[in-house]
Amino acid sequence: MFQDITAQIDYSSSFPYLATVLGISSVTGTLGWRWWKQKNTYKSLESLPSPPKHWLLGNLPQVLAAVKQKKLFLQFFDWSKQLGSMYVIWNGNHPIVILSNPKAIEDTIVNGMRDGSLIRSEQMRKAWNDMSGPIMIGETGTEWQWRRKVWNPEFSSSSLSKYIEIINQACEQVIETVKEAAPLREVEVDPLFVELTMRVISSLVLGIPVDRNSTSPEGPPLEVTKLYEAMSVLGYRFLRQATGEKRWMKYLPTKNSRDYWAAKRYLEEFLIPRVDLALQMREQKQTDLPQVSSLFRESMLVKIAAKELKYNRETLIAESVELLIAGTDTTAHTLSFAAGELSLNQRIFQQARDIVDQVWQSKGCINTENLKELAYIRAIIKETLRLYSIASGSTSLVAQRDTVIEGQVIPRGTRVSWSMLAAGRDPEVYANPEVFLPERWLDKSKETSSLPMIDFGSGTHRCLGEHLSMLESTVMLALLLRYFDWELVNGRSSLEELQQNLLIYPSDKMPVRFRLRNWE
Ligand code: HEM
Repeated sequence: MFQDITAQIDYSSSFPYLATVLGISSVTGTLGWRWWKQKNTYKSLESLPSPPKHWLLGNLPQVLAAVKQKKLFLQFFDWSKQLGSMYVIWNGNHPIVILSNPKAIEDTIVNGMRDGSLIRSEQMRKAWNDMSGPIMIGETGTEWQWRRKVWNPEFSSSSLSKYIEIINQACEQVIETVKEAAPLREVEVDPLFVELTMRVISSLVLGIPVDRNSTSPEGPPLEVTKLYEAMSVLGYRFLRQATGEKRWMKYLPTKNSRDYWAAKRYLEEFLIPRVDLALQMREQKQTDLPQVSSLFRESMLVKIAAKELKYNRETLIAESVELLIAGTDTTAHTLSFAAGELSLNQRIFQQARDIVDQVWQSKGCINTENLKELAYIRAIIKETLRLYSIASGSTSLVAQRDTVIEGQVIPRGTRVSWSMLAAGRDPEVYANPEVFLPERWLDKSKETSSLPMIDFGSGTHRCLGEHLSMLESTVMLALLLRYFDWELVNGRSSLEELQQNLLIYPSDKMPVRFRLRNWE
């Protein structure tokens, strides 16, 4: 009987059919086995709260929609409010644990990276480095170490004090613009602060004068709007990649990819002549080329190129792009939120102004000596960062082995990230979290002197530009307080309607009505 049946089968015509069936079943089997294995690996996480998810895609659709609407960190913040200080979201069946207790975030980053149980995730590292090439923030281990070692001294508070005049000059320029507009026209302060911070970082790193009317002979002029647009395209690309977009998608003929290549080209054209000149100066040991201004000769770019021979054209361009991006939006948006909060809190406004006036009376300006007396202004900036942690999603980590966070077993391979917006409003850590209260940073009592300040990051990759940012913001706020009274055109909604490119910013650009101060 069996022989009869086999004899009837036409082997030559059924072979492709059999091969297809076998192929499909082995692919399905492998996928099923992997799915089952992953589900078991991450079983311990099922006890954590999680937002409602799609059976196959997990929370990916919500995450991608939030990125598209430029609201990703608001989505994390909302989930934190609903689900508590530790929850899990699923990218398919890959888990990402989100923390929002500030102490837990700090300990996790510091201890996890110290003992090697958590490392910076490969996906995030690639996303950073795909912005413009290998950069400090996208590197780890020795590749990161040598970069950080060369830049650290340049951004120490003592080295930065020599730039106080440049910073003052850039801030004075903002004051002049506001004076021209006040009281007739309202001013969107966010772009104004973007211009300020871009001019300062370009001056320090590339030796471009902060004065709007000066040019620099070493390369194309600084065109604030165009440069900002290019930087924003790269910043948004980072966000898309960090949440799952594939790197090769930049080769597709889409608007995003066209924008990406145009932005890269623009930045390279802006930077290449300057980088090449710095390398030429290093190679020929020429410090006084005729076409070189003294500002450029003393720029960080020239110093770093000479100091660290590992830097070449590609890495110097990449690092310059990184510093331009990191040094612009961060401080600019923080300043916008600080100006907004000040306008809505007249007691704090008046107290800050009194302090600025006292300092001013002795010297008639802000200098390195009287800066020390502006601790209250620095507290305003810290308080602003607590509530509006603009760099809310620093680089996520991935567990290298099973590890425990806040008593919860985190299996190997789990990604760990955080919601800084939620962390800054944790009522267990910051009393009356919704109240803008700079004093909390000045109170030296035991409980408050150890308040976590994690908005500049934690651990080894903590922000390189923290001192620069504090310096710029302190001078800028002090000058505004000295010269103007102001109010928000859109009131509190300017502080509530947030969006996010790479960083969080006010959607309406924070329009403000300034009045020159009444000196009587
Ligand atoms: C309010 C202002 C700022 C905030 C809130 C901020 C925040 C941060 C955070 C959270 C990190 C850690 C990122 C991570 O872990 O992946 C970081 C790193 C960094 N920041 Fe800032 N930043 C600010 C201003 C600046 C400025 C003005 C510069 C300009 C030099 C700068 C340059 C950098 C660099 C180069 C890194 C990478 C450091 C490393 O990987 O070792 N930042 N910043």
